Amino acid sequence: MVSARPRSVTFVSRNAGKVPETRETLRPYGVTLRWRRKEFIEPQAARLEEVVRAKLHEVEGWAGYVLVEDSGFFIPSLNGFPGVYSAHVLEAWGFTPILELLRSRPREAYFRTVAGLRRGRSEWLFVGEVRGTVARRPAGHGGFGYDPIFLPRGWKRTFAEATPEEKNGISHRARAMRKVGKFLVGRPT
Ligand code: IMP
Repeated sequence: MVSARPRSVTFVSRNAGKVPETRETLRPYGVTLRWRRKEFIEPQAARLEEVVRAKLHEVEGWAGYVLVEDSGFFIPSLNGFPGVYSAHVLEAWGFTPILELLRSRPREAYFRTVAGLRRGRSEWLFVGEVRGTVARRPAGHGGFGYDPIFLPRGWKRTFAEATPEEKNGISHRARAMRKVGKFLVGRPT
């Protein structure tokens, strides 16, 4: 799995919580992550793919491999809400409205990550998802964002109660980033 030539990738995100997860996932592929903190101008878009394409556009002209991602928490019984608005909803209201709305609705939910990689004029997208349900009340202090209310399928603990390694074993972000790692192995630096 390890690439013959270690390579460096610039990961551009405003969210510090995503950095260790992404770094640990890419390490076995010989990828060293350099974090550049940046606030993107996110378009009003219905799909993560559109947001990621806009982010890739903003890093045009940057040197080497540049990695961005956008993620969301999707609840099918709420027509996919909060989805692409996950960050805004959490900042404005916390978990309470979601837990209230789900009192009388199915609790299935999933996280989805779209990772975008750019090198020069080329760009590639990679998708990862993890399915589960919304817990009745928040639990745990690990992770970030919606982790305290997400119970992965087959688990009795939320993502926020898991170790970073356990979350990384199955998470949407790790699944997308493993695809990035596999793609980079053997490609020219
Ligand atoms: P983004 O930074 O625009 O991708 O916003 C995604 C938002 O979705 C974050 O601010 C979190 O609220 C939520 N989110 C994304 N990934 C995760 C995760 O791994 N755990 C918990 N919440 C997440």
